Amino acid sequence: MANSKYDMRIVFLGPPGAGKGTQAEVVCKHFTLEHISSGDLLRSVVKSNSPMSEKIREFMDKGLLVPDEIVVEIVAQEIKKDRKGFVLDGFPRNLTQAEFLDNSLSPLNICLDRILNFVTSPQKIIERLSGRRICPKCQAIYHIKNMPPSREGICDKCAGPLLQRNDDKEKTIRERLKVYSQLSEPLIEYYREKEILCDVDGDLDVDALFEIIKRLLENPAISDYSD
Ligand code: AP5
Repeated sequence: MANSKYDMRIVFLGPPGAGKGTQAEVVCKHFTLEHISSGDLLRSVVKSNSPMSEKIREFMDKGLLVPDEIVVEIVAQEIKKDRKGFVLDGFPRNLTQAEFLDNSLSPLNICLDRILNFVTSPQKIIERLSGRRICPKCQAIYHIKNMPPSREGICDKCAGPLLQRNDDKEKTIRERLKVYSQLSEPLIEYYREKEILCDVDGDLDVDALFEIIKRLLENPAISDYSD
């Protein structure tokens, strides 16, 4: 693995459809970090038809959090790998997972550098999730209007067929948003108290938001995107 110039450990926090996965791809490429997405990890277990697949699929299709003991085990294996730096996207999702993360990193003598909180309006979330298409082969993310592929329905990167995620149906989106506000939003205060949380404007387009994130990550002294 190439060494990251910055060796950062970052968490992206924000509601479904805030653009965390899209931004993680760009940020990881620019800073040579690893993208660890708990959603992608879980989707690959579902696809593998292992004994755990059906159980995980049931939770995901309903828009509910997969039980902590399952997710933590899967993410722990990734964190333990010798990584110079990473962006954690979709994990932690509740206070139990946040405490687990702190307890896993401290014996490795590493700590989280920044938590970026994607503040995103409900209108943008609905518009983005209803138009999202993903490539199940290489995990690339598209949007039918905002980020369409060159050929309709075909992934630009691997030529795989693009699909709508099972949990991007209206009813499941509503459930995911409810779960986010009940279980994940308390993490904002948890990390704000540790003074490592920065709000970023998730409503911005991809390039404009990346410029802000880049500036924040290159300048640890900046604590807010309006600085
Ligand atoms: P997960 O895959 O983590 O989904 P999520 O957090 O709900 O987030 P999304 O992937 O929906 O949105 P995103 O913010 O990444 O947006 P994206 O970049 O794709 O989790 C799925 C499920 O797995 C959970 O419901 C749960 O069941 C389970 N799970 C996962 N982690 C778990 C955990 N830790 N504990 C327990 N269960 C867990 O963008 C969305 C769309 O908008 C795309 O079409 C994109 O092209 C477009 N777009 C993105 N950014 C912009 C922009 N700036 N401007 C215009 N369009 C944009």
